Amino acid sequence: MGMMNQDQAIGVGLLGCGVVGGGVAELLLRNRDAYAHRVGKPVVLKAIAVRDPSRDRGLPPELFVSDPAAVIDDPEIALIVEVMGGVSPARELIMRALELGKSVVTANKEVLAKHGREIFEAAQKGGGAVYFEAAVAGGIPLIMPLQRGLAANSLASVQGIINGTTNYILTRMAKEGSTFDDALADAQKLGYAEADPTSDVEGHDAAYKLSLLASLLFGEHVDTEAVPREGISGIMPQDLTYARELGYVVKLLGIAKRAGEGLEARVHPTMIPVDHPLARIDGVTNAVTVHGDAVGEVTFSGPGAGRGPTASAVVGDLLNVASLLDTPDRMMACLQSRTVSPMPLDEVDSAFYLRLQAKDVPGVLGAVGTCFGTHRVSVRSFVQHPAEGGHAELVIVTHRVREASFRAAVREIAEMPGIRAISNVIHVEEQA
Ligand SMILES: NC(=O)c1ccc[n+]([C@@H]2O[C@H](COP(=O)([O-])OP(=O)(O)OC[C@H]3O[C@@H](n4cnc5c(N)ncnc54)[C@H](OP(=O)(O)O)[C@@H]3O)[C@@H](O)[C@H]2O)c1
Repeated sequence: MGMMNQDQAIGVGLLGCGVVGGGVAELLLRNRDAYAHRVGKPVVLKAIAVRDPSRDRGLPPELFVSDPAAVIDDPEIALIVEVMGGVSPARELIMRALELGKSVVTANKEVLAKHGREIFEAAQKGGGAVYFEAAVAGGIPLIMPLQRGLAANSLASVQGIINGTTNYILTRMAKEGSTFDDALADAQKLGYAEADPTSDVEGHDAAYKLSLLASLLFGEHVDTEAVPREGISGIMPQDLTYARELGYVVKLLGIAKRAGEGLEARVHPTMIPVDHPLARIDGVTNAVTVHGDAVGEVTFSGPGAGRGPTASAVVGDLLNVASLLDTPDRMMACLQSRTVSPMPLDEVDSAFYLRLQAKDVPGVLGAVGTCFGTHRVSVRSFVQHPAEGGHAELVIVTHRVREASFRAAVREIAEMPGIRAISNVIHVEEQA
């Protein structure tokens, strides 16, 4: 590789040096020469802001500082990598960098899901760019393929397994019959789940990522607070067994699709048939299936988190931004003129799985059938399993129906004298 002119070097400032930032710093130092060759100029890590700059992190100590604003303001630094996480101060720091005309690469789904519109607008005004490949599905190239490689398409839908923690838990439950609590404890031991697993388990993390994907699909900012969201803590091992007997698996899916004039964006446990492209995605792996009007169905899969994969996505973005510095990059600009809310679940059409406990089976079947008929819910399959004390467990899968009608029927069924309990309701999606 010939001599690169250091005067042309592109200075990089890193905000955060934890799991992801540590991986990014290591790649930038280790692969300097290859990156200089790819970009055409040296890409040089100039400073790293952390809370505690005195801690030994196995990286050159002179790089570490405690003031992220000073890194942003440094005139030798053109590109900012934000891998601190959280909304504040990340949001203010990203805005500061963009207002100075710098470009930002971030892995922070939460700040973009909540404040993406103002952030992309600030980039547009300042003439910089915001790239966020690592924010959705970690190491899987997804954002850039959607924005560039599939740019010819109108995208009709996106479905994804975009949270590795919950997919690991559901996989363990399905394969080994573990309870949710046991599978979660194992995920924590293996470092796949945090000490406080709420954001993953209750679907917040997936909802942030889905809101980013839905925003790309619809070209507007999709309000993440308005995304209907249900986590996996209510899924029981027997639901997974019954699902398997019926030819389905249960996954926590983020789903975004056009529905007439409206748009659907929702996160919930979903029963999908075993031949669905996402059905065999097990463990911490992530995968996303998109439908484009020209390309048809495309599925991306791979590692959704972790130091190496996430750093791969961040540094990939960084090299792309570096190679396009001073070139307005409209294809990746995410210009959004308004914030839109997805349809409430009541207005969505879906099929459903219903598991309930009945006392008096013959009487109950007639009453349940009549109630479904009144609410125009049609039954696709029905299985009866004996339960303790002469009771029965009934498992019903419906055809597609407006969610409000199905919920109204279930409320009535719950009040019937022959019913002991409604044990679970899970959305069913027959197609990708
Ligand atoms: N981990 C993954 O696999 C993964 C995957 C995809 C996306 N992400 C996203 O990447 C981002 C970073 O995640 P992570 O797992 O690398 O987090 P992490 O390990 O907790 O690291 C956070 C880093 O930010 C620094 N920091 C936090 N607040 C700061 C502040 N106010 N001022 C200066 N420095 C501050 C910390 O400094 P100290 O070291 O001094 O505490 C630490 O170095 C998050 O947005 C996350 O959602 C992570």
